[in-house]
Amino acid sequence: MSAAHLMHTYAPQPVAFTRGEGAWLWDTEGRKYLDGLSGIAVNGLGHNHPVLVPALQKQAARLIHVSNLFEVPEQEAAAARVCAIANMDNAFFANSGAEANEAAIKLARLHGHQRGIDNATIVVMEKAWHGRTLATLSATGSRKAQAGFEPLMGGFLRVPYDDIAAIERLESANIVAVLLEVLQGEGGINVAHMEYLRKLRALCDARQWLLMIDEVQSGIGRTGKWFAHQWAGITPDVMTLAKGLGSGVPIGACLAKGAAAKVFKPGNHGTTFGGGPLVCVAALTTLDVIEKDGLMENAARMGEVITEGLKRELAGVAGVKEIRGMGLMIGIELDRPCGDITKRALGAGLVINVTAERVIRLLPPLVIREAEAKQLVSILAPVVRDFLAQPASAAAA
Ligand SMILES: Cc1ncc(COP(=O)(O)O)c(C=O)c1O
Repeated sequence: MSAAHLMHTYAPQPVAFTRGEGAWLWDTEGRKYLDGLSGIAVNGLGHNHPVLVPALQKQAARLIHVSNLFEVPEQEAAAARVCAIANMDNAFFANSGAEANEAAIKLARLHGHQRGIDNATIVVMEKAWHGRTLATLSATGSRKAQAGFEPLMGGFLRVPYDDIAAIERLESANIVAVLLEVLQGEGGINVAHMEYLRKLRALCDARQWLLMIDEVQSGIGRTGKWFAHQWAGITPDVMTLAKGLGSGVPIGACLAKGAAAKVFKPGNHGTTFGGGPLVCVAALTTLDVIEKDGLMENAARMGEVITEGLKRELAGVAGVKEIRGMGLMIGIELDRPCGDITKRALGAGLVINVTAERVIRLLPPLVIREAEAKQLVSILAPVVRDFLAQPASAAAA
């Protein structure tokens, strides 16, 4: 086949996967790869999961889609389940992370208007990633992603990440919310201090701002708890989800608590596809499997196996700046652009990706076993060592 008729939004690696099983993928040539990326934090249950696939087949044969103009029992069940694990009150289901964040941004603005703040402003972070729709792109802290799409949307105030003093200094009476990731995925696996999150929670309470946490990449068990912010012992007013929630069936969610949960009324927001029976069964089944199979505990343990293994194997290697992350959301920061390292890893039978130019990102499925986690380390470490051993000019080529 040829990509001649595809808009050139991606520059894909010349590999097409046709089959998957657990933490493994096979390409059209029958070559086998260990999946260290899970479709960018989507396939938490791995591939061809023995509980998920029959559940989807059964629901597809019964009912795939109905309009939100009617009651959708599967949607009600998914909302109840996801609110229970998140300690939230209400959910709105969308189709992607960007749409979940769009809902959060609209909710914050409407909340502001309802409180008499006409020029509602949301505080956002440097290096944040919230999506590629115009509102979420404007909230995103990547000039590279924004370039050429100006005029961006107003109503955002950007501050340095993980810096409470920078937010304390803000005095605008128009601020209605703070939106952030607990650890920035696309921004380079930057982890906020838990104390910063706790202080931010207190500051938002004191100033009557909504604390809105984007758990699109870090949520659904990936860091070893349902949601990364739970490590800080806080609860946001609004939280967004997508990626791992449907195990590959597109679903996003905007959850809200307390006053924030009562902001939207009929006619304020909506979607044709969001929260259909099939995607909600995918979410319900995903959450059940994660809980029953102890996958959060596994993510925490396997995260340690991989992180400690990489630290051991790459100790003292010139060019490795830092290995960091939470659970199965891991970054290896190099002192230079990562060049062709993704291709080299593929050649060695491992799927990875690079973010923020200098950070190798690992997001393996939550089902990864110990032997596979160790194998990931033993494949990746020599790839990184070889890459760094070549002259920097060759690496940049
Ligand atoms: C934290 C975060 N928020 C939002 C998004 C956007 O999600 P989507 O690509 O599903 O629109 C992403 C995607 O990478 C993300 O990592």
